[in-house]
Parts: sequence; structure tokens; C-alpha cells
Amino acid sequence: MPAELLEGKIVAEKVLRELSTALSSLVQRPGLAIIQVGEDPASLIYVRKKVEACARWGLKAERIGFPLDVTIRTLQAKIEELNAREDVDGIIVQLPLPLHLDVEAIVRVISPDKDVDGFHPLNIGLLTRKTPRFIPGTPLGILHMLKHHHIPVAGKHAVIVGRSNIVGRPLAQLLLNHDATVTVCHSKTKELASLTVQADILISAVGKPGLITSAMVKQDAVVIDVGTSRVDGKLRGDVDFEEVRKKASFITPVPGGVGPMTVAMLMKNTVDAYRRRH
Ligand code: GUN
Repeated sequence: MPAELLEGKIVAEKVLRELSTALSSLVQRPGLAIIQVGEDPASLIYVRKKVEACARWGLKAERIGFPLDVTIRTLQAKIEELNAREDVDGIIVQLPLPLHLDVEAIVRVISPDKDVDGFHPLNIGLLTRKTPRFIPGTPLGILHMLKHHHIPVAGKHAVIVGRSNIVGRPLAQLLLNHDATVTVCHSKTKELASLTVQADILISAVGKPGLITSAMVKQDAVVIDVGTSRVDGKLRGDVDFEEVRKKASFITPVPGGVGPMTVAMLMKNTVDAYRRRH
């Protein structure tokens, strides 16, 4: 039997419907500020999706664009202004940033209480100590999707391919907090297939289409594809979907899998930030 689809699009819709019910009892609309530098085509799409989702579900989104040659001081000053604004509950800086901007020095300026991406070192530290405040949207969305489908995590071997600050690292902490045995693989890992084939839950977050072949997957594994690459104008994940779905028990499609969950978790974090501040 082919794998059951983990349709993030449908799960996200359910999360957001529940969120909008909760939103109707709030005095004000929670506000999300999105800083974007330059016009990276993928970032433009992601930011548009975030702004549209906010508009649809009753949050107030503000996109603040800067040219590619913006200075770090200008960005930091804008963040400080947003930190002080009463009507802004969440602040995110869309990544990647151009190389001349030090991401760490920018993320650190965001107030940890408004850091709805969960990228500030304080929030990463809290996640690592198993006392999280804001958990990054993609890891949180993956966990939520597993829970929604009653897929157990405790005691399972989760193999993560990719060690980014956005996905791989925080996901490893989150799954560890939920009692998974976690292996993190990356570009220097030797014999990648010998590790992925051991995974009960295999998550790939690299951005290399076709990286995960059927031979790298254990029979009945749960396969989560976080990769998003554009090939001939189409969005492609890291996983050879057609072949791997014959072997896996569950698999995420690309698009319509993890992506919509990330957006939904960002909105949930923004509503949580509002509640914490009021
Ligand atoms: N770029 C890719 N994913 C993300 C994300 O979750 N947050 C931000 N700020 N940038 C991203």
C-alpha cells in the first residue's frame, strides 16, 4: 500500500480555524511585523503567504521591506522601534539575508518576548532546556502534524538530514524533548544512507531534489520532506516522492506538506505572544 499523505495544508487549516475562534475573544488583533531585505523570489512568495494568512485569519501583518544594500544599523534601529511598539506582538526577519548582514547580530536585537520565529538565543536556550517559550515554526509544525496523525515519537529513531538553525538544530531539540532518539546528519556525514535507513521518522531539510531515494528509506518509515527547490518552475522536495511513497507508511507532499504548517505555527506563536503581553 502506498504511504498515507501527511497533508499539512489540511492540518494547518484546522489549526487556523481553531485559532480564529480564540482570536474572536481578543480585544485587539495581534500584530506581526515581517522584515524583508531585497527581493529574493522564494522569500517574496513566503512573505506573501504569511501576509495573506494573517489577513485571512484576523491578524494584523505589516511587511517592512529594505533594499539589498541596507546597513545592519538601519535594521537594528527598525527592530528596536518595533520592540517598543504596543501594537506589534511578533517580529520576524525573513531569511536568508544578504551575506554582508550578520544574522546573529540582527536576531539578537529582537525582543525575546516578540521573537515568534523562536530564533533568538534565549528562546533556543529555553527549547534546549525543555522549557520552551517560542518554538521555531517548521519544527513545531512537523511535531503538530505527527501528533495530528497519532504518529508516536517517544522511543522512535528520528533521523534528521540538515543542521540549519531554522530547521535541523531546533527540530533535533524538540524531538529529543519528546523522547525520540535523534540522529542529525549533514554535508560531512559519511555513509548517509546507512543512517537514514535506520530511521523510524526521516526528516530531510537540505534543499537538494532527489537526495532521498527509496533505497535510503526503511520499510514503513514516516518521511517528512522540508526541502523546497524550484526545478523548471515547479516546487520540488528532497525526497523522490513517487518511489519513496511505495515504501513509507506516511509521507509529506511538496508543496502542501510542511510549508503550510510553518505559516500556521508562526500565527499561533504570534497569538501566544499577544496573550503573554496582555
Ligand atoms: N526562511 C525560511 N524559513 C523561514 C522561517 O521559518 N522564518 C524566517 N524568518 N525565515 C525563513
